[in-house]
Amino acid sequence: SITNLILFLCGCLSNALNTGYKSYKGYAILTVQPGSQKDMEILRKLDSMFEEPMDYLKEPHGLRDKGQILVSPENLLLVKVFLNDHRIPFTTKPIHIGPARSRRALRPTDPYQLSEIVTSYLSYDDQMQYLDKTAAAFPYTTQIKNIGTSTEGRAIKIIKIGFPSPTNQPKPIIWVDAGIHAREWISYSVALFFIQQLTQNQKYSSVIKLIDFVIAPNVNPDGYEYSRTKDRFWRKTRSKHGDNRCYGSDGNRNYPFHFGEEGVTWNSCSEVYPGPYERSEPEVAALVREIMAYRQDIKAYVSLHSYGQEILYPWGHRTGVYPPDVNDLKAVAKKMAEAIQRFDGTVYNVLNSGDGLYPASGASDDWAKSAGVKYSFTIELSPDNLM
Ligand code: ARG
Ligand code: ZN
Repeated sequence: SITNLILFLCGCLSNALNTGYKSYKGYAILTVQPGSQKDMEILRKLDSMFEEPMDYLKEPHGLRDKGQILVSPENLLLVKVFLNDHRIPFTTKPIHIGPARSRRALRPTDPYQLSEIVTSYLSYDDQMQYLDKTAAAFPYTTQIKNIGTSTEGRAIKIIKIGFPSPTNQPKPIIWVDAGIHAREWISYSVALFFIQQLTQNQKYSSVIKLIDFVIAPNVNPDGYEYSRTKDRFWRKTRSKHGDNRCYGSDGNRNYPFHFGEEGVTWNSCSEVYPGPYERSEPEVAALVREIMAYRQDIKAYVSLHSYGQEILYPWGHRTGVYPPDVNDLKAVAKKMAEAIQRFDGTVYNVLNSGDGLYPASGASDDWAKSAGVKYSFTIELSPDNLM
């Protein structure tokens, strides 16, 4: 019949349009703002009502700091009722995930055009092409190294940027890595922008005479590609351990410092599953190995995340503990925040990473600090309010 024919055509059409990208239909992003310690406790209680802790796209890192929670349709009503009952004000936004916008591959003629990296999110292959072309164009100041391989076989690459040391002494190093959390796409772009600026902006030539920058623009390539093609909110790696039910570990819970103590869930399907043991993720193992090899030269460690507009300093594995030189760290973080604000008015807050709603152990910043890198930070990039 004609109805069947129409239904059949509709079916074909929607199949053709279906990109296989998870739709997140019915999901919402709830924004909450704890105003008191009591509110914080209530939000923690909200976690314990469900099998899994709330999935914060933006964590509240202190009082009056916003939190944004990704809530599934099954939990939405219950979460709203709970927040209302406890007089925690919130706003709700529906989510619209379109199919991932496909972009053309990098043109071979303009491999390191600024416009390419700031107007779209590059695929992992394009990111690596960008890296290779940059190194080929600036052989004197850059050097690429392959430090390991992801679960699915992608290369973890770093680029070192700096003029050769005039003496034979090693230069001080600033380490920057990006995107251990796959869905935090802006991190990768910022790392590439950083590479572009350090290599091509004359303004920084005196800086790279004094300092070597080591930048790892994509430390979770499998997760990133999965997030680009299958599930926009994928956060973890793509490993599968033993007979775990789900794929992926939270790379930023997998580092060998107070592994598995706080802010983790031992369920492989959880967003904060730390992995079966420390360094179980090949990506993390590679980064640890590399940093350990010249840790005495690394003066600062920066891990790029999003979102929040925050500079976070250690410790973050539990609440209320600080390194003995915490004031030095705070002072440098404040200088960073001031410099950003002078530049374009954007306000970054300087906060301790463990004093918010969730201490989280096994994170890279704490591990780097414990390994002897004095200035260790996690930067939660812009914006402070999603979408
Ligand atoms: N949002 C980051 C995460 O959950 C923050 C990590 C901050 N560092 C820490 N040690 N808690 O991984
Ligand atoms: Zn993150």
